[in-house]
Amino acid sequence: MYLPSFDLKNKTALITGAGRGIGRALALGYAEAGADVILLSRTEDELQAVAEEIRAKGRKAYPLPADVTSTESIKNVFAEIESQQLNVDILINNAGMNIRSKALDVTESEWETIVNTNMKSAFFMSQKAAEWMKKNGKGGRIINISSVAGKTALRTGVVYAQTKAAMIQMTKVLAFEWGQDNIQVNSIGPWYFETPLTEKILQDKAYVADILAVTPLKRIGQLPELVGPAVFLGSDAASYITGQTLFVDGGMTIHGF
Ligand SMILES: NC(=O)c1ccc[n+]([C@@H]2O[C@H](COP(=O)([O-])OP(=O)(O)OC[C@H]3O[C@@H](n4cnc5c(N)ncnc54)[C@H](OP(=O)(O)O)[C@@H]3O)[C@@H](O)[C@H]2O)c1
Repeated sequence: MYLPSFDLKNKTALITGAGRGIGRALALGYAEAGADVILLSRTEDELQAVAEEIRAKGRKAYPLPADVTSTESIKNVFAEIESQQLNVDILINNAGMNIRSKALDVTESEWETIVNTNMKSAFFMSQKAAEWMKKNGKGGRIINISSVAGKTALRTGVVYAQTKAAMIQMTKVLAFEWGQDNIQVNSIGPWYFETPLTEKILQDKAYVADILAVTPLKRIGQLPELVGPAVFLGSDAASYITGQTLFVDGGMTIHGF
């Protein structure tokens, strides 16, 4: 048998921001690939709806409402996972947000909200997950949802860019530190995908034309196009890959101008 397995049977994935947008798509895609899924976000009814969709696919789903900016809340999530005797084979740090202020207008409170949601959460979720994966002796996978904004300069959104670049660097250092424990840490860098986060900006036709002008594939990404890369990075097929960021960007990051 020379084809390594892409399926996720007998794996449980913990996905943050799983109630809508990219997180929801990844949760449903993971279920289709055979995984059971623990779903995190602050909006319980969205989590319940995704959980129902996952159960309809024959997989188990565990909605856990939590605010991932709070270390107390993260601690409670892992206590709940322990008390329900669940496992965490794969963590996807996907919860994120953006406030598109010009650099001179960014307030301290905006800065802290973006940094805590995108960056602090991913670090402390990873710390708890790695502790868990080390303890159970099986290792595991961590996948950070970064962004093209973490690699290349977009025209605005400096704080968002700071957090996404930090996730790419965090991915490398954690991969280095935890490789000996069989914990692989990788990242995915999406370009524009239509979700509640980008819905408004993608209604601006001039802005979309500018996006397409720098996108070799000349279109916005479709959510299922993120699922394959995320399933791959969580599966045995990616067993020798760590510390990498896979840009799912229609070619946006390959060129300069
Ligand atoms: N869409 C794109 O084009 C694009 C491109 C590059 C990167 N990304 C990244 O992909 C990720 C998902 O983006 P998206 O477009 O799917 O966004 P979205 O539609 O706004 O969904 C964000 C998810 O994160 C959750 N979340 C936000 N703050 C949270 C908190 N404090 N605690 C727990 N959950 C929280 C939200 O749930 P609640 O608000 O209910 O808690 C929601 O489920 C983000 O990290 C984003 O930066 C997106």
